Amino acid sequence: MSILVTGGAGYIGSHTVVQLLEVGYDVIVLDSLVNGSREALHRVETITSKSVRFVEGDVRDRPLLDRLFAEYAIDAVIHFAGLKAVGESVEQPLAYYDTNMHGSLVLCQAMAAAGVYKIVFSSSATVYGPDAPVPYIETMPRGSTSNPYGSSKSMVEQLLMDLSRADERWSVSLLRYFNPIGAHPSGQIGEDPQGIPNNLMPFIAQVAVGRRLELSVFGDDYSTEDGTCVRDYLHVMDLADGHVASLSSHRQPGVHIFNLGTGQGVSVLKMIKTFEQVTGQSVPYRIAPRREGDIDAFWADAGKAKRELGWWAKRGLEEMLRDTWRWQKNNPHGYLSVK
Ligand code: NAD
Ligand code: WQD
Repeated sequence: MSILVTGGAGYIGSHTVVQLLEVGYDVIVLDSLVNGSREALHRVETITSKSVRFVEGDVRDRPLLDRLFAEYAIDAVIHFAGLKAVGESVEQPLAYYDTNMHGSLVLCQAMAAAGVYKIVFSSSATVYGPDAPVPYIETMPRGSTSNPYGSSKSMVEQLLMDLSRADERWSVSLLRYFNPIGAHPSGQIGEDPQGIPNNLMPFIAQVAVGRRLELSVFGDDYSTEDGTCVRDYLHVMDLADGHVASLSSHRQPGVHIFNLGTGQGVSVLKMIKTFEQVTGQSVPYRIAPRREGDIDAFWADAGKAKRELGWWAKRGLEEMLRDTWRWQKNNPHGYLSVK
């Protein structure tokens, strides 16, 4: 079976490509490299001793997509390609709707024209909105979104639901990720954010490796056990396995929504302390004002994925942090030195 992986040179995409190759899928990666790295794919090939077909290009490029579907007998698409920085999306809404929304639209048009009706889409827990009770469960309606990034995810979910209602050949998996962290256990591939990291885990890792002086903890007066925000962090290798599981098991057409998380909430301070214990590195931090838009606490009800996909997050917090550190220590500047 051949899988087209859009955005496969990025963080979650590259780990998923490893797991797809390991179980015997053929993989074609389409990536514009706007936030991905060719080096990541070279390393994927080293890890797996298998080759990846790589096409540098944009998911909004319809003629290119048509050529890809004509050239390769593609059975399904995993659609990671997109922009993902929440703050940037507020400043550049057109860029975010264009890449995330229009890109998905063009992809679906090309898929329909080529007769490929199976898609796995990278959605996000953010679609539940700020008012949903925890744990989040798939039967809840989507909530309001407070930034263009979240809105674009919610809109693409709606687009795919409408497509499936109009044409029952479509088989759609909407995978709502919680907070992916960690890296491949080889330390060869991992998260490589450009500029100052927006997210907690890469920021902690860059402080530990000496690239940044200290971490700002955004708020310690939330209504949580230690006052800092609580999230459901899951290992990117588990997340990758979730894609493989959803590809192999959603044989019935229709829309299938799955939360991919551990079901456990962890606070920011607990993340710092556990990282220090596991790695022996100190992470200097100071308490800073709250970050606009942050929700105090959320985590997944991940029961549906376990029941219907046979998937659950197997790797614990310590393993996530150890693997993050191995990647960061071995690659203090990410893929930069070889880009
Ligand atoms: P990433 O930025 O590392 O990967 C995205 C990849 O898409 C990059 O390699 C980038 O070059 C590529 N890309 C961007 N625009 C493109 C375009 N127009 N055409 C072709 N390729 C393009 O991000 P990631 O963390 O691996 O996230 C993958 C997907 O999962 C994204 O859709 C993201 O919104 C979603 N997601 C991520 C998280 C998270 O915390 N990382 C959480 C929920 C959902
Ligand atoms: C986690 C916690 C911060 C950085 C975002 C997106 C979501 C999804 C995942 C992509 C929060 C705190 C962070 C720092 C800190 N994205 N923090 N200091 O906000 O749960 O989710 O990324 O698709 O859609 O919204 O993740 O890692 O940014 O933050 O104290 O320097 O760490 O306040 O409580 P978040 P995060």
